[in-house]
Amino acid sequence: MKKYNFNAGPSILPDVVLEAAAKAIIDFDGTGLSLLSISHRTPEFEAVLADAKNLFRELLNIPDNYQIYFVGGGASTQFFHIPANFLKGKAAYVNTGVWTKKAIKEAKMYGQVDVIATSEDKNFTYIPKGFAIPEDVDYLYICANNTIYGTEYKEDLDSPVPLIADMSSDILSRPVDVSKYALIYGGAQKNLAPAGVTFVIIRDDMLQKVVRELPTMMNVNTHVDNNSMFNTPPVFPIYVLRETLKWMKAEGGLAEIYRRNKEKAELLYAEIDRNSLFRGTVEKEDRSLMNICFVMTEGNEELAPEFMAYAKSKGMVGIKGHRLVGGFRASCYNACPKESVEALVACMQEFEQMHK
Ligand SMILES: Cc1ncc(COP(=O)(O)O)c(C=O)c1O
Repeated sequence: MKKYNFNAGPSILPDVVLEAAAKAIIDFDGTGLSLLSISHRTPEFEAVLADAKNLFRELLNIPDNYQIYFVGGGASTQFFHIPANFLKGKAAYVNTGVWTKKAIKEAKMYGQVDVIATSEDKNFTYIPKGFAIPEDVDYLYICANNTIYGTEYKEDLDSPVPLIADMSSDILSRPVDVSKYALIYGGAQKNLAPAGVTFVIIRDDMLQKVVRELPTMMNVNTHVDNNSMFNTPPVFPIYVLRETLKWMKAEGGLAEIYRRNKEKAELLYAEIDRNSLFRGTVEKEDRSLMNICFVMTEGNEELAPEFMAYAKSKGMVGIKGHRLVGGFRASCYNACPKESVEALVACMQEFEQMHK
């Protein structure tokens, strides 16, 4: 049976990327060797790394005064690398759920954390707005897309202090004005690659702002100075990331990917709003393009397990909501085809008919 993959992460990657990755595991770029059995210092891999960085810069329109590096450890490692490097006195954090809470916990080990806005009062179903950003903090930290709840910032904030953003789950899904950020990072296992590689995009001036002496692997300069090769980089995920970026470019670049993401999200949100059995869970203006959350309407809650079973029988994969939110979540990352969203919408319509 055809499967429609809505996994939240690791998640769907384009078929052509998987095919290229499979081939490279057997014969990497005609070297006659497996990608998994070569040195990261071979010219062939160095070319992959350079390509990945160049494509990232081109697709996201990253200005020249920013560096890109790849490192292991996942986004969770950045939760403490960021304050270790840049938190001397105070930092401002906006709390939009689990992923910022985790970052806040780590930051408190290095300095004072001021949570300047939070949406915890309504179980993180909206993005706080209109908050004042203090000027006496080392940086402002946000999570651009909240994978668990399905909320997303729709504008790049104007910040008087360095703005740092976790874009693990919406990187390269929509245009971003990189020049408004001092640092953008994320785990690559949603829109770009398998788990194992983290991307960091850092403005040059931040490299001089490291506030304490750190173990070598924790210092941002180590990774920039050594071109992501201070230690053995995650070769396979970087290769897949490069293939995904090549795919994006061939598909028409970020403008086209963004257009498709909006189209898919509009289709699914329209059905959620129309269908008498389902309702959305977050403020409409903050709805994520990537993680689309919904629950059964009031009085129909007991139908949830039946819908889950029906959806599964129709090939839907990964639509169970996060345990903190419940209900359903369809993650519609870049590689998720419109066809999958159409199949889910059809499934919701059929389910409504069955319960008329
Ligand atoms: C927004 C966000 N930040 C951070 C993380 C943690 O990423 P990692 O597992 O790479 O540490 C996740 C994981 O899903 C996430 O969605």
